[in-house]
Amino acid sequence: MNDLDLMNLARQARRQAYCPYSGVSVGAALLCTDGEVYLGCNIENSAFSPTICAERVAFAKAVYDGKRSFSAIAVSGGKADSHGTFPPCGVCRQVMAEFADPHDFRILLESGGEIKSLTLSQLLPLSFDKSNL
Ligand code: THU
Repeated sequence: MNDLDLMNLARQARRQAYCPYSGVSVGAALLCTDGEVYLGCNIENSAFSPTICAERVAFAKAVYDGKRSFSAIAVSGGKADSHGTFPPCGVCRQVMAEFADPHDFRILLESGGEIKSLTLSQLLPLSFDKSNL
């Protein structure tokens, strides 16, 4: 699976978003090291705080299925059909840090028609993780 294929799956997942309050739709495509891909979308809630991000939906589905090893996640999001860079929130970065190698795991973001690839350590330097317990 190349980066563009993974981003196209994230764009597809974005169409499933339930976002009546913000109007911000987000899709995520999480690539496991065994080649399987899990998709997620954001799911909002009228009480606001129960809202869950697309990235964590994808991780929850994968972890439930027994997956523990991941190589990349593509994220597409924004208002309406915009394709600007949509960076994962801090909570999602922390969830990634639980399961992913900070130097190997890549986060793919849209960037004006291009795909920007960042490592988790670039997005979450000096992260808190299980080695701190
Ligand atoms: N959102 C995500 O799905 N992923 C992120 O990393 C940041 C924010 C969603 C949550 C909410 O439904 C909408 O974007 C606006 O915050």
